[in-house]
Amino acid sequence: MSNSISLLGLQWGDEGKGKVVDVLSKDIDAAVRYQGGHNAGHTLIVDGKKIVFHLLPSSICHKNIKCFLGRGVVISLDALFSEIDDAFEFIGDIKERLVVSNAACLIQSYHIKIDQLRERSRSGTKIGTTGRGIGPAYEDRVGRRSIRVADLFDPKVLKIKLEEALDIYNFLIKRHDETQQEDLNELLDLNLKQAERLKPFVGNVISELKKYKEEGKVVLFEGAQGALLDYSLGTYPFVTSSNSSLGGIAPGAGVSATSIDYSLGISKAYTTRVGEGPFPTELNEEIGSYLAEKGGEVGASTGRPRRCGWLDAVLLSHSVYLNGIDGICLTKIDVLDGLETIKICSDYSSALTREEILESMALNDVEPQYVELEGWQEPTAGIQNFNDLNDQAILFIEKVEELCGAKVVMISTGPRREDIIIREYPLKR
Ligand code: IMP
Repeated sequence: MSNSISLLGLQWGDEGKGKVVDVLSKDIDAAVRYQGGHNAGHTLIVDGKKIVFHLLPSSICHKNIKCFLGRGVVISLDALFSEIDDAFEFIGDIKERLVVSNAACLIQSYHIKIDQLRERSRSGTKIGTTGRGIGPAYEDRVGRRSIRVADLFDPKVLKIKLEEALDIYNFLIKRHDETQQEDLNELLDLNLKQAERLKPFVGNVISELKKYKEEGKVVLFEGAQGALLDYSLGTYPFVTSSNSSLGGIAPGAGVSATSIDYSLGISKAYTTRVGEGPFPTELNEEIGSYLAEKGGEVGASTGRPRRCGWLDAVLLSHSVYLNGIDGICLTKIDVLDGLETIKICSDYSSALTREEILESMALNDVEPQYVELEGWQEPTAGIQNFNDLNDQAILFIEKVEELCGAKVVMISTGPRREDIIIREYPLKR
């Protein structure tokens, strides 16, 4: 069936992508991250122990999968090395299984400083970034002044590029805090030292992926964040700074835009968001706290509580369209167990038309219109067969399909690997 599969979040991130990767992992040969950086967070349970990765693909835990960090990822070497060390402790040496593109751009300490200083000084316009330097690193990439992995191995070029960068960043940092300015020689030494450690991992991602394709192997493109955080298509300016939707794959990994055979979208049975930005179906009352508590809705990267609300099918169907979704995996349906009534937003009332709202993502002044469904008391938790679900849960799933125009092919019913219903398996077994 599919040799090339994309797996991405259809909401504002944290849809439970790691669990789905885990379920598919035995049938995958290679996994690629193509955008974002260590702002992502996937929590994995390996032999009963909890491990959180931010930068490495979730697939790294599976010894049969070769992992790639493509050119579209922004890499903090501190974060990468610390995750390689963690991985060593839990799953052993990953040197043979991890390839980092020599064209990927690096996150330097000045990116992190300016990200945090800028957020701190904003009043009323905070984005709520993760403070990991992601935005500034992407600004440099577009500004054609990034330090890329390959530059680490040419000390002369590296020095010139760092000098140019500090010319800008020390000026910016000084405006906020004189004491945090960076020293060129210290930074150069650090980069050169890190280059040595990185060397065995550096490779040519494009040609390696080409080989996988020619050999008919299965490659998974692992999206980070979620489609609504895409800096072009999402809720701008409350977005991340990469293309976190399907379109990010081609330039971020180095494959053709027509090469994806199957686009799998992950959505929670409700909605969450971390950081600032509009959220039409947000619940600030009792049910919001219920979802947050029952769903364990705390950010894996920053520990911030996630905002919770009902499923928004207006946004979900938009994400389904924009990302050519072939099938949805609906996660955390068990969190809805026990509710009297369950709502799904099917439309907005607003002075603007739906088309105008979606074009500009002008979600601030919309009033969600809900379809109300009867809840269920019989638990879905742990169910593995679709036919074992209660009638109300099935009606809920069918409503999601009707409102979103895509089939729900998988349903996650709990945190364990086996807590999943597979209606249509997207890979060849
Ligand atoms: P940045 O990516 O750190 O620049 O943050 C920009 C926005 O994206 C903020 O609202 C973050 O909370 C959000 N964000 C970044 N990464 C993730 C993620 O992995 N899950 C959910 N939200 C994220």
